[in-house]
Amino acid sequence: MSKGILRAGVIGHPISHSRSPRIHGYWLEQYGIAGEYKAYDIAPENLRDEVMRLRDTGLSGFNVTLPHKQKIMDICTTLNDEARRIGAVNTVVFHAGGEIEGRNTDAFGFMENALAAVPDVLSEKRGELSVAVIGAGGAARAVLFALQRFGVAELRLTNRTLAAAEDLAEEFGTRVYEWHEKDEACIGADLIVNTTSLGMTGQPSLELNLDSVASGTIVYDIVYAPLQTQLLKDAAAKGCRTITGIGMLLHQARPGFQAWFGQLPEITPELEALVLA
Ligand code: ATR
Repeated sequence: MSKGILRAGVIGHPISHSRSPRIHGYWLEQYGIAGEYKAYDIAPENLRDEVMRLRDTGLSGFNVTLPHKQKIMDICTTLNDEARRIGAVNTVVFHAGGEIEGRNTDAFGFMENALAAVPDVLSEKRGELSVAVIGAGGAARAVLFALQRFGVAELRLTNRTLAAAEDLAEEFGTRVYEWHEKDEACIGADLIVNTTSLGMTGQPSLELNLDSVASGTIVYDIVYAPLQTQLLKDAAAKGCRTITGIGMLLHQARPGFQAWFGQLPEITPELEALVLA
């Protein structure tokens, strides 16, 4: 254990693919902070013991990725509002008194990225936006929470498995469309968001017919590998404004860095390039 420096990390299983060490490593260097951020591979059966061990070694906290985002909630002694509503924790902060606080920063990341990309539309149409959300998994929960908190006029939701969409609809007051109606769900929407894994490298693309979508509609894909998904390419060809998913990944990392290292970090084009490399 290295004394005197601030330490944090990311836990998952597997963990080698995580881009978090690159992000936090960049910020530590950028802000000249004597700190360390490491990846910890923790098998599900060892989760509680390993988290306690990390706390005992003096870690300030850690990010959480698959498969621990739900299970970690049982280990946290307190959850913030986002984590409770989204039902998952991606950021843990160890407090001096022994408290283990679970947070979820995905909604923050989603909205900050949108605000950075299309500040004009979001400020002019706050409270009046009609939004179509595609997908009803964990990411969709964070997106719906973020949109509801931001203030929109209408939320529409469609998902391959209808029951999952219906569950979310009950909680977030969204109008549900069946999967075969997804094109219809997008007509008249100011913002269309893909929260499914469709379009990711190795997955089929999300087939949306954008013929009836007005040019200027914003299409936001939270997938970031590849950065320009087929959906975003199709949307751009139709004159839509597009938002890529890399900003959400970068923005969601900022509150954790602030909690552990004391500085709310900024995103630079250099960081984006580094993470995409
Ligand atoms: P995440 O936490 O990233 O949201 P998830 O909870 O597994 O991951 O959710 C994945 C989402 O992608 C779900 O909405 C899922 O649809 P189902 O609820 O029907 O499973 C969607 N998804 C994944 N593969 C899909 C496919 N081939 N076609 C349509 N939707 C798909």
